[in-house]
Amino acid sequence: MLYLLDTANITEIKKAYDLYPIAGVTTNPTIIAKEKSDFLAKVLEIRSLIGEQAMLHVQALGRTSEQIVAEADYLRQKVGGNLYVKVPVIPEGIKAMKLLKQNGIKLTATAIFTPQQALMAAVAGADFVAPYVNRLDNVCGDGTSVVGEIVQLFELYGLPSKVLAASFKSVEQVHKVSLYGGHAITASPDIIEQLLKHPLTDTSVEQFIRDWEGVYGAGKVISNI
Ligand code: E4P
Repeated sequence: MLYLLDTANITEIKKAYDLYPIAGVTTNPTIIAKEKSDFLAKVLEIRSLIGEQAMLHVQALGRTSEQIVAEADYLRQKVGGNLYVKVPVIPEGIKAMKLLKQNGIKLTATAIFTPQQALMAAVAGADFVAPYVNRLDNVCGDGTSVVGEIVQLFELYGLPSKVLAASFKSVEQVHKVSLYGGHAITASPDIIEQLLKHPLTDTSVEQFIRDWEGVYGAGKVISNI
């Protein structure tokens, strides 16, 4: 399982990178716009913070394949490193993916709501496909089952594409995606943090420290008793 952060907030990225095994950062136009800052400066700041090797997924704007291809070329030139250009699975997006794949650009197919969208994107050359779990659940769909069917289709057809499940509002959704064998998730730092939360973990840790300090003294640890 790869954990990615779905945010462009530098403070959040720093904190989560410090604590968790994070493989990269994903953004979309909404996430970037929320930061209300210069686009390129923000993306380059994220790149410099996470390093050249970490995955950085940035979405191309545009409704035509020409616009999307031009955006992707711009991003490749300006951002560099381990960059994945996110392209929505509209027909012009699929056309752009075919062209960009030939030019060696790594691709994340996005705005995916059905297994067939994911399958076609994978055949067109997407390295990752990003199904939106919570947005599907919100309209009485079953987001995690869609992830499961995509994983199944990729196995069935021997496709190398990976599922980067996105749009999460609960630990339960992440858990179900994991059970379905989703290869990666991208979520807000808040959800990533919630994955570790359990009151019994906290009380157990406190109990261990209390018991230890009761015998060895307050503030004592193994290396200084
Ligand atoms: C990922 O590709 C999407 O941009 C993002 O995760 C959507 O998440 P949201 O539904 O919480 O906005």
